[in-house]
Amino acid sequence: AKGEDDDLDEVEEIMKRVQKKEHPTIEGNSYCFYNGFWISNNLFKGVISFQKHYVANDDDIVLASCPKSGTTWLKALTFTIINRSHFTLSNTPLLVSNPHDLVPEISLIDLHTIDDYHHKNSPRLFSTHNAYSLLPLSLKNNNSKCKIVYICRNPLDLFVSLWYFSQKFSGGEKIKPHSLDLYFDNFCQGIHAFGPFWNHVLEFWKASQEMSHKILFLKYEDLKKDNVFFVKKLADFLEFPFSLEEEQQGMIEEISKFCSIERMKSFEINKVGKHDSLSIPNSSFFRKGKVGDWRNILTPQMVDNGKKLIQEKFRDSNISF
Ligand code: A3P
Repeated sequence: AKGEDDDLDEVEEIMKRVQKKEHPTIEGNSYCFYNGFWISNNLFKGVISFQKHYVANDDDIVLASCPKSGTTWLKALTFTIINRSHFTLSNTPLLVSNPHDLVPEISLIDLHTIDDYHHKNSPRLFSTHNAYSLLPLSLKNNNSKCKIVYICRNPLDLFVSLWYFSQKFSGGEKIKPHSLDLYFDNFCQGIHAFGPFWNHVLEFWKASQEMSHKILFLKYEDLKKDNVFFVKKLADFLEFPFSLEEEQQGMIEEISKFCSIERMKSFEINKVGKHDSLSIPNSSFFRKGKVGDWRNILTPQMVDNGKKLIQEKFRDSNISF
């Protein structure tokens, strides 16, 4: 088995070869460009470790996304669906733990502790921001029955969400007015955490077309529009379908309401708690949860550039935002 030291050597070896970029705006983060994607330095070791050492179980479930696409929501929904025989909505761990602590980002944890994160006989459930091409082979292997659920979001809303979230890393300093421009330009060049977003989305979309039994491709906007339909679809895909009795009892609607941003925001743990590994307030994962918030912050020029980019990048897919 590979040890921590081998891992470090391997990461250092890779780090020597990758292109680095200081993030010029507020996060004070530097990124490295690895296999076509920008990865924050602090996550790099975890990303490589996941790619190289993770071995999929047949019933594993991995939630994948570009940051700020609705990961927290998808975690809450999936956790509730697959654990509903162990917990009711009145005693679910979601009442006392943030979804990110229950469904860990795999690059942030020690792979040896991965089995601590599932409940009783439920499958292992975790998340990743890795691009599809950076996922471990055993997860993508068509012979393995594990499942991947990907969520994406209108990139303009994703950008706005990222912009507000990144301010949590700025040490509370007032952000200079020109930074938004710079942040947006970088985003349009694909320089953001796990960017470029279009390649991130397109890779998962293509894979989901080829292996629809294995990869479910979801859009934040669709979940907003018809949540009940997609909760049912998610449960079917994960092979945890709702029984007729559960449907008649209104369980799908109840889960949908329970996982809504308004409800989740109101839990004490999400008001005052902190994320286990990132040490940022849980509240920062719940902002507005609206579609189209870009209208309130982006300049007409930014919107124009952003829309052109979306049109150009997603032209050959059936993805529309
Ligand atoms: P906004 O900043 O636009 O409000 P992620 O979970 O991938 O980090 O994405 C965070 C975005 O999802 C934030 O968007 C956040 O408010 C929104 N969000 C969090 N929980 C949600 C929920 N239960 N329902 C809908 N949106 C949610």
